[in-house]
Amino acid sequence: MQQTNPPGSRVVVITGAASGIGYAAAELFRDLGDTVHGLDINPTVPDGVTYVECNVGDRAAVDAAISRCAADGRIDVLANVAGIVQFGRIETVTEEEWDRVHAVDLKGPFFLMQAALPHLRACRGTIVNVSSVAGNAPQPYATAYAAAKGGLTQLTKSLALELSPEGIRVNAICPGTVDTPIVEQVFHKITDDLDTRVADRLMMMLPGGAIKPAEIGETIVWLASPAARMITGAVIAHDGGMS
Ligand SMILES: NC(=O)c1ccc[n+]([C@@H]2O[C@H](COP(=O)([O-])OP(=O)(O)OC[C@H]3O[C@@H](n4cnc5c(N)ncnc54)[C@H](O)[C@@H]3O)[C@@H](O)[C@H]2O)c1
Repeated sequence: MQQTNPPGSRVVVITGAASGIGYAAAELFRDLGDTVHGLDINPTVPDGVTYVECNVGDRAAVDAAISRCAADGRIDVLANVAGIVQFGRIETVTEEEWDRVHAVDLKGPFFLMQAALPHLRACRGTIVNVSSVAGNAPQPYATAYAAAKGGLTQLTKSLALELSPEGIRVNAICPGTVDTPIVEQVFHKITDDLDTRVADRLMMMLPGGAIKPAEIGETIVWLASPAARMITGAVIAHDGGMS
């Protein structure tokens, strides 16, 4: 495996850069001197990061956004961070919700990786996918989300193998509870009618509060760095022990 491109001169594409983990990771890459493109449906990306409007669940929008980011022919780092959650008993999941979650959490990363591949090949780039503890271990009341994130975890490992002869590394991070707006959407749905024997699993983590977005951002940056040049197909549980 060849040396991964050093910080400071890389073209970095991050989805979900307008909030939470993606925002924090975009700041970290920017501070290293990289050229950072933030793909999102919201424009609130950090200063110094180029906003590229993109609904990752829309393949045409993904293709257009990648073409724009790769204007000089290269993408050194693709970080698939954008995501949405689903929470509730299986009976509550509608077809519309299933499709929406899978469009953003699984189809989006797939077509981003496909569109970015020629540009990753041009500079032996690397991919980091943000999956979830739910894509790594059973999680109650999140079946549609877990199916999508489990798909992303397995997609990561399969693509890592497929691209290993070319030296393109593909890795995943499976965060536990991170202090971002997405968590509120889950926690306000944890109600007394859920079975505490399994719902309590959602709270199982090392003492010290929720993981900080920048802590996951640092793991993204590290996986994309030359220090991780011999790591591919890895699924890193950054989850405080939840899994
Ligand atoms: N926060 C957690 O506890 C936690 C735990 C495990 C995994 N994750 C994963 O981390 C990733 C980031 O989540 P976060 O916690 O930072 O949440 P967040 O809500 O703060 O950020 C998600 C970002 O994705 C963007 N986004 C949503 N739909 C999009 C779409 N269709 N196209 C483009 N962008 C879209 C949002 O606008 C937002 O900027 C997600 O994939 C999530 O599943 C989060």
